[in-house]
Amino acid sequence: MKLSSRIQSLSGNASGAWDLFFRARTLIQEGEPVVELTVGEHDERTDPAILDAMYASAEGGHTGYAALPGTDSLRETVAARVQRQTGVPATLENVLITAGGQFALFAAHHAALDQGDTGLIIEPHYATYPGVILSLGANPHIVAARPEDAFQPRIPDLKAGIEAAAAAGSRAKSLLINSPNNPTGTVYDTETMDDLAAFCRDEDLWMISDEVYDTQVWQGTHVSPRALPGMAERTIVVGSVSKSHAMTGSRCGWVVGPADAIAHMGELTTHTTYGVPGFVQDAAEFALNMGPEAEARVAEPFRRRRDLALKVLAKQNTVTAIPPLGAMYVMLDIRATGLSGAEFAHRLLDRHRIAVMPGESFGEAAAGHIRVALTVADDVLEGALETLCAFAADPS
Ligand SMILES: Cc1ncc(COP(=O)(O)O)c(C=O)c1O
Repeated sequence: MKLSSRIQSLSGNASGAWDLFFRARTLIQEGEPVVELTVGEHDERTDPAILDAMYASAEGGHTGYAALPGTDSLRETVAARVQRQTGVPATLENVLITAGGQFALFAAHHAALDQGDTGLIIEPHYATYPGVILSLGANPHIVAARPEDAFQPRIPDLKAGIEAAAAAGSRAKSLLINSPNNPTGTVYDTETMDDLAAFCRDEDLWMISDEVYDTQVWQGTHVSPRALPGMAERTIVVGSVSKSHAMTGSRCGWVVGPADAIAHMGELTTHTTYGVPGFVQDAAEFALNMGPEAEARVAEPFRRRRDLALKVLAKQNTVTAIPPLGAMYVMLDIRATGLSGAEFAHRLLDRHRIAVMPGESFGEAAAGHIRVALTVADDVLEGALETLCAFAADPS
């Protein structure tokens, strides 16, 4: 039977990007010792106190259908957190609990885009972004942020993106940003955020702000566009406990935005995921109420390993990096080897059983780069990076 072009556009998109990852997983299943520096997932598991809260909730009976927009108390907790971060008043009516940040991205774009509209994405970008927009029958338009600009976007390039969409007969309705950024570790400063906000106001765009790494900032501060003048009414913040509390498998995230948009996205939940399990929501609420110290504890290994990675890189000249300002990755520039990111990553896996993501998986703007996830023990990371640098010096 013929499959819809929409669903086929998703697999076409994902397969190339994750080839290396799947090869590494196959080798591991075959018993090969592979150092996996691919996925953004903590080596520490969820805090046992959070699991206790989850179990207590389930045992207490919160195992039936849960409140669809989320429990009032979790929505209030998220609203209070976002209000603290932005200074902009928020209530539970501004919050919808979703199945991870991933569904939050889908819901936000569903709210912003009609079929045939264009959603702007800045690359390098998290691998699922184009697929989220394609799944709606809308058009992702990709705007490059360049390594020579430390992967900060340029406004004229974004404007050109709007014009290109218009020339193709489509109207741009949203801009998706991600700071701290996966894969580059870029954090947009206040000036960049002000410029992006002004661009969205001038062009009448929704700003979809993926802030799932908001607790992992190593330099500077996290600025949410929701905090900026005139932005709360056009900003949809995407958040999650996945990265902040090592709860990737719990699948609990949220969108924060204007109350009417949230109500409509709630309807989307009714017709798709039918909410998030009550015991998971209770555990997420418990986790968020553990306070900033608990979040700093989860983030600390990545800060430490980021410094360690820069120390290893400083000992040689072939592989360079723009020091990441946030998130759990370091993006390495391997252009001096003459290899593409994909060639480098596949050869490194073949020869040394070290798995890293090719930069191209995150868009052409990251060609000639590889992304290293800082998600293994410090000594393992140090050894792997030393091997990687030695390989880069002689990759033939
Ligand atoms: C930038 C970015 N956004 C969203 C997600 C999805 O996170 P979640 O586990 O909350 O769905 C990820 C996961 O890696 C990510 O890196």
